[in-house]
Amino acid sequence: MPSLGLVAKLLTVASVAALLTTPQFSSATTFGPIITPKNPYSGIDGLATMHGDPASSDSTPFAGPGNATITASRNALQSACPTILGTSDGYVFGLCTTIFGQTPTIHLFDSEASTSLVELAVAKGNILGGVYAYVDNQDRLVLTNGNNQLLRVSKSSSGGKWSLTITDTVPLTGIPSTDSVVGLAPDWQGFVWFATAGALAGYVDPVTNNVVVLPLQFAEGSTEAVANSISTSPAGTTIATTFATYVLGRDATNSTINVLWRQAYDRGPARKPGQLSWGTGSTPTFFGPETGYEYTTIVDNASPLVNLLVYRTGDGSQVCKVPLFEPDNSGSENSPIGSGRSVFVASTYGYPYPALPAGAGTSQPSSANFVGGIERVDVLEDDTQGCVVKWVNNTIRSSAVPKLSLADKKIYTFVRQRFLDPDATTTGLLDYFYYATVDSETGLIDSKQYVGQGFIYDTLQMAGLINEGVLLQGTITGVVRAKKA
Ligand SMILES: *[C@@H]1O[C@H](CO)[C@@H](O)[C@H](O)[C@H]1NC(C)=O
Ligand SMILES: *[C@@H]1O[C@H](CO)[C@@H](O)[C@H](O)[C@H]1NC(C)=O
Ligand SMILES: *[C@@H]1O[C@H](CO)[C@@H](O)[C@H](O)[C@H]1NC(C)=O
Repeated sequence: MPSLGLVAKLLTVASVAALLTTPQFSSATTFGPIITPKNPYSGIDGLATMHGDPASSDSTPFAGPGNATITASRNALQSACPTILGTSDGYVFGLCTTIFGQTPTIHLFDSEASTSLVELAVAKGNILGGVYAYVDNQDRLVLTNGNNQLLRVSKSSSGGKWSLTITDTVPLTGIPSTDSVVGLAPDWQGFVWFATAGALAGYVDPVTNNVVVLPLQFAEGSTEAVANSISTSPAGTTIATTFATYVLGRDATNSTINVLWRQAYDRGPARKPGQLSWGTGSTPTFFGPETGYEYTTIVDNASPLVNLLVYRTGDGSQVCKVPLFEPDNSGSENSPIGSGRSVFVASTYGYPYPALPAGAGTSQPSSANFVGGIERVDVLEDDTQGCVVKWVNNTIRSSAVPKLSLADKKIYTFVRQRFLDPDATTTGLLDYFYYATVDSETGLIDSKQYVGQGFIYDTLQMAGLINEGVLLQGTITGVVRAKKA
């Protein structure tokens, strides 16, 4: 089990590094903390979940490769790898889906994901879709499979040979076979929360394995669905359906789920191009300057402009509603970065996906150019005064979920650019993909370096992992590694 001491040390190193690199007279923003106290049941913050930590801050205490010259290489796996997670002892789990056969497969990699040490196929069941995972405090991968079972998978090696072993199989009773889990995360008492596509919220008791579910069907005359992952905090679990944001609590006395608050949002007239569902594309993010969970945020699906919505986690009251980007380029399929008082959102409007989830429906319009852009919004110190747009840069065509390093204050992502026409906003099969870092204070790109060309390098708005100064990024066909040359 990774000790809290280790985590505290990492955070201290990170803040010292941040102090050392802060120019003397700058009024640089204070980012962080990552949600505190740390969740005792999840792995290392920055490594344990697709969005870094159970709060989905999309921030990490670790420094990335930075703006020096990088080298990039690709581990070809014939699989798309949307989930890349790190363990406390430097290994990496990839949860990948084979292109042929669509079989979910767990890979155990070395720290740079250059070698797959061992792999394990997981039941895909009758649902076409992903499987979801996090790393727990014992470095086990916790995931659900296509048969609606919660699995815990541990890694071990003997005589130089690695193996992956399923140590727990817990049936998620209460989920119909036609439904499937789309996100899961542990709470601060070790209960494993989940949400299903059909908008069941639930949790598993870690001792009894009892499962409690609550249908999130509060939209009058309509059916709510969930298309994104979930986040947890000591104040509750947040789930965004295709209609509303919820914060839910667990009632210990009678084993029920309480809706602490629900805030409906503007879901617009239809799914937008560059999104995977008709509704928010956000895994909701907890963030805040003291505990890292004072606020809860999502991006809605309003038309023509989506809004960043920030709520007080305690009572669901709205802090601000800020329109983002520009008409014909306003939509986000990414979880926002949330850190300190700052939120960063990337526009994915128009991003081309090779396939859409079942039930995604047609978009309006049916397609659009991919303009891109990243926008930073800060909650004012007196939050009754709302929020302010700090910067917006509409030229950054981010093709991955951006991540903020608290150690070097850079935003890490990939950008996509048209072959032979760097200013084009169209997309094609021969597009270039670049490693990119963005200065979080200014929104300027401070490094952009070529990684590869074409379909096989498509980073598909998936989340990368910053592990020991190395950026690991899933693509449609494997994992790309970028590190200092
Ligand atoms: C569970 O207890 C809470 C208060 O502790 C109450 O609000 C809720 O209605 C109870 N639920 C059931 C199903 O009894
Ligand atoms: C956006 O970033 C690019 C690359 O760093 C820069 O040239 C441009 O000035 C930026 N735009 C704004 C509005 O900050
Ligand atoms: C590269 O990063 C360093 C450290 O953050 C910074 O001081 C420097 O200005 C950056 N270089 C460019 C070209 O922005």
